[in-house]
Amino acid sequence: MSTSERPAGSTEEQAASSGPHPLDEAAVENAVQQALQAFEAAADLEELKEARLAHTGEKAPIVLANRQIKDLDKDQKKEAGKLLGAARGRVQKALSARTDVLEAEHAERMLIEEAVDVTAAPRRKPLGARHPLSVLQEEVSDVFIGMGWEIAEGPEVESEWFNFDALNFDPDHPAREMQDTFFVEPKSSHLVLRTHTSPVQIRALLGRELPVYVLCPGKTFRTDELDATHTPVFHQFEGLAVDKGLTMADLKGTLEHFARQMFGPEAAIRLRPSYFPFTEPSAELDVWDVNAKGGPRWVEWGGCGMVNPDVLRAAGVDPQEHTGFAFGMGVERTLMFRNGVTDMRDMIEGDVRFSQQFGMEV
Ligand code: DAH
Repeated sequence: MSTSERPAGSTEEQAASSGPHPLDEAAVENAVQQALQAFEAAADLEELKEARLAHTGEKAPIVLANRQIKDLDKDQKKEAGKLLGAARGRVQKALSARTDVLEAEHAERMLIEEAVDVTAAPRRKPLGARHPLSVLQEEVSDVFIGMGWEIAEGPEVESEWFNFDALNFDPDHPAREMQDTFFVEPKSSHLVLRTHTSPVQIRALLGRELPVYVLCPGKTFRTDELDATHTPVFHQFEGLAVDKGLTMADLKGTLEHFARQMFGPEAAIRLRPSYFPFTEPSAELDVWDVNAKGGPRWVEWGGCGMVNPDVLRAAGVDPQEHTGFAFGMGVERTLMFRNGVTDMRDMIEGDVRFSQQFGMEV
């Protein structure tokens, strides 16, 4: 409390214990003025509350003075009562007037602060979209599930034996060099990041009763630099059928059906002789892409062939009793020519607009 705020004619201690004398008109008037000024100075209801406690609370000068009335003579009592009554009335009136003003201000401020702008544009959290590669893999899986095939899976960190040896890659065979392999350290672990989904053929044969009809979609790895047409991590799907009496005609019929499901009823396929260590005979598979930008054309889609008897033997199947066919394609590549994606990097950047472009919202 500064000196100027101190009730006239009293020290602080006196004010605390006794307040101004109940008949000291100047001191009472001063106390009233102090109160009125304090109320006026209060900028909000919180400050007004403090001012109220200071000027009308138990220790307020006027209240203390009022308490002394009882000690006065009868005549003085009446006069003092009148004086203090009027003083308290003025203080109360000023307090309630200021309360009304500040309450109105508060209400107005809340209205502004809490106002909802019903015309504001909504801020929506954009929905994510399933990645076209996942959607395509599922589409492929559905085609084969529709034919009664099963989905099979294998590990991405694969033993060299499954990835190469069991698939008839000779240790010194140049075909092993055809695939740029990520070897897992130490080299003696004989582990690689699988370079294709073909090792799942062996796992499926070892883990199932014959006949086997499986589709194996999954992630594959090669030491390619990332550019418009290469990525070190990509996806393939592998098909394998092993049964009694399967021939190249079954392979061709299956692939034809598959191509029509993926590319429409006008799609056609073509097989060109090729070489893979795990198939004999082997073929390159082309698909007639009706929707190609520059007009319909043949597009290389994948590899296929009749399962090499050595591969069947490695998986414990007697090639005299059972034969099989297999095929493998790249998912990224399929998406590229089927959906007209020109840069593979778009597929891995994770920009949701790329996914939405294919209308693949969740
Ligand atoms: N694994 C081969 C590759 O990654 C693709 C392939 C070719 C798979 C012929 C097959 C097949 O099942 O029969 O290049």
